[in-house]
Amino acid sequence: MSTQELIDIARAMVADDKGLLAMDESNPTCNKRFAWLGIPQTVEYRRAYRELIITTPGLRESINGVILCDETIREKKKDGTPFVKVINVAGIIPGIKVDAGAKELAGHPGEKITEGLDGLRDRLKEYGQLGAHFAKWRAVIAVGDGIPSQGCIEANAHALARYAALCQEAGMVPIVEPEVLMDGEHTIERCCEITEEVLRTVFSHLHTQRVLMEGMILKPNMVVAGLTCPRQPEVDEVADATVECLLRAVPSDVPGIAFLSGGQSGELASARLNAMNVRFKSKAPWALSFSFARAIQQPALEIWRGEEANLLRAQRALYHRASCNRAARRGEYTAAMESSVEGIQ
Ligand code: 13P
Repeated sequence: MSTQELIDIARAMVADDKGLLAMDESNPTCNKRFAWLGIPQTVEYRRAYRELIITTPGLRESINGVILCDETIREKKKDGTPFVKVINVAGIIPGIKVDAGAKELAGHPGEKITEGLDGLRDRLKEYGQLGAHFAKWRAVIAVGDGIPSQGCIEANAHALARYAALCQEAGMVPIVEPEVLMDGEHTIERCCEITEEVLRTVFSHLHTQRVLMEGMILKPNMVVAGLTCPRQPEVDEVADATVECLLRAVPSDVPGIAFLSGGQSGELASARLNAMNVRFKSKAPWALSFSFARAIQQPALEIWRGEEANLLRAQRALYHRASCNRAARRGEYTAAMESSVEGIQ
């Protein structure tokens, strides 16, 4: 795979004002979300739910790529068609989550390190053969008293850079995801400071590991206040703080920023992404895009609840959230779009 091919994939992932749909929840996370809604936590229900997502009519109008997990990339539709084929036929690029999850970081109470580097070269090769063109690795940075520590930031940045270099060697575009968590009472200012520090450290390690900036996508958190912070910022304040922070820390040759939603509601994530594009689209050197899981999937999952009879309504809800985010990329999302959905509820 040539450098140009990597660059082409990275650009295609954020092209045409579309974004990415993360559907790579680990089995425990997916099961937890199912349990909450009374959906049986079995392989077959997980498969049926993922089939619902990838067969949503018109999904490609807003989605360039989907992030699968190890179980899902090997699965088939009920009629026997492999998921990867369904995704390709829909004109969507398949990608794969390759980290092995965040584990306690030794000597750092309350902090985590993402594992999965051992054997990664071989796993990437297999995922490439299964049809993945890009990969994802998520590092989590908790905020609290005395954390994050330098040790946690450095360890996660190093792992992200090692992963990204291995992806590019394998001809896959790495999505580099350092997530500063929303849990806690911290202010938006503290989130901004930590996000900037984390991103600077991550890009320093990416350079050291000779990762090609043009052939990667950054998946950061938005700069927000902690969930229990008494002062919650306005939409425009989040947009300004986020893009200004990124402008200070992210090289301009990265083709795209694809935000995670991190537990924000679908409406809020769309509104904030929209404000960023209204205020910065013409100035920012990179695309301001999305790679949401919950902020696209949650309403659909709540409608589906494991019942075949709810499938079409759930797909309409998924399509709607994806469309709202495409509108947000153009700076054309409005709250009125939320009330104009027909037949979802
Ligand atoms: P959320 O959008 O639900 O935060 O998920 C994004 C993701 O891929 C987490 O790794």
